[in-house]
Amino acid sequence: MRSKLHIVILAAGIGKRMKSSLPKVLHELAGKPMLSHVLEAAGALQPYRVCVVIGHGGEQVRERFCTSDLIWIKQEPQLGTGHALLQALPELDDEGSTLILYGDVPLVQAETLSRLIQEGLEEKCAILTTELENPYGYGRIIRNKDTHAITCIVEQKDADETQLSVNEINTGIMHIPNRKLHMWLPKLKNDNAQKEYYLTDLIKMAVDENVPIVSTQPKHNWEILGVNSRTQMAELERIYQKENANRLLEDGVTLYDSSRIDVRGQLECGSDVEIDINCLFEGHVKLGNDVKIKANCILRDVTVADGTIIYPFSHIESSEIGKGCKIGPYSRIRPNTNLNDNVHIGNFVEIKQSHISGGSKVNHLSYIGDTVIGQNVNVGAGTITCNYDGAYKHQTIIEDNVFIGSDTQLVAPVKISQGTTIGAGSTITKDTPENELTLSRAKQVTLTGWKRPSKNK
Ligand code: UD1
Ligand code: MG
Repeated sequence: MRSKLHIVILAAGIGKRMKSSLPKVLHELAGKPMLSHVLEAAGALQPYRVCVVIGHGGEQVRERFCTSDLIWIKQEPQLGTGHALLQALPELDDEGSTLILYGDVPLVQAETLSRLIQEGLEEKCAILTTELENPYGYGRIIRNKDTHAITCIVEQKDADETQLSVNEINTGIMHIPNRKLHMWLPKLKNDNAQKEYYLTDLIKMAVDENVPIVSTQPKHNWEILGVNSRTQMAELERIYQKENANRLLEDGVTLYDSSRIDVRGQLECGSDVEIDINCLFEGHVKLGNDVKIKANCILRDVTVADGTIIYPFSHIESSEIGKGCKIGPYSRIRPNTNLNDNVHIGNFVEIKQSHISGGSKVNHLSYIGDTVIGQNVNVGAGTITCNYDGAYKHQTIIEDNVFIGSDTQLVAPVKISQGTTIGAGSTITKDTPENELTLSRAKQVTLTGWKRPSKNK
């Protein structure tokens, strides 16, 4: 049986090198704050309690996560990682253990953490370590030459030449029994190069008391990378995106270039989906079987049903697209739009908060807002629904089998009854009768013999 798992996320560091007024852990990776990523990994372990240690700018962090069930702990001033954990000590129940995470190490995987916790069961201390070709800046794991047992962790600034040559580093992520934390944390001293209370000094205390120390390694070294600067942030973003793209490929999605897709949220794909270059998916996007997304499209919170093709440069938000539709190129579909099966939306068409039934087409240069369109309707080029009177929005209803001639304005509220044909160039302000031709157009006249003015020679 696992004891009560506590998780403490250290997030009080100022993050000076980000050069930002936003607290570091609120900077976004793949469309959400770094801290959200850490909280997700933490949540997957089903912890008994999660504490977040915050410092400078902490209120902003707290507000951002106000709906979550977290315990916020203020650390002021920031006197080191050991001091940070000390602030959380009153929240750590004796009959539990604590996993220490960093708010600025966002890519750590729950699977790795779960292994670390397994290693550290039964009153052991468990450290997540790894070997780095260039260990500069990290605390080094010092082991006994003969037994290979961990004897201590030495920080970069306190290490001697021999210690600096060690490649095994402390990732900072540890799992320690709470009873030990209650004994050890108050005893930490800051007699070191940085005059900080080092969490890593607990390891020496564990050795002195013969508490077993075990270690485990992450599956991938990118899991333990921290963010101190925007350069590192950008590097982690690419790692995240590359990993995500690889997962999509493994799941059977065709990516024309796996380094030119960005997913900021969740992308679910059916079978045989194809995604061309430079597409961005935000929020929750669900693509059915055989969907094709051509180059340079942006989809946010969208569901696309089987067999639909989204042509290049289309932008679709908070909408549902049916089966066999053709959208774009250059279509803009705004929130609360619902397109049934086999709808065609063409170039330079904007659709907002509208419902379009099966088989209808709006193929060129139109604005359709607050509109309900029936089946098999053809909306001609340049048609505008005039939905806004300057104060209120009004609805347009276009029933089944309507044909709207090009360059028509439909002044809402208005109903175009089924079977209506609207002559091109009309301004329609009144409801139309069924199955008739309606048009509003000055009669065409010809002035015979009229001459164009010409300059005097
Ligand atoms: C720490 C470890 C080092 C390890 C490295 C991994 C110690 C003494 N050293 O060093 O062995 O290799 O992480 O990245 O633990 N924080 C607070 N309050 C503080 C200080 C830090 O909340 O007073 C938080 C930071 O926001 C950050 C984390 O703790 O999330 C680590 O702090 P950082 O200063 O980056 O630690 P390092 O000196 O790099
Ligand atoms: Mg430091």
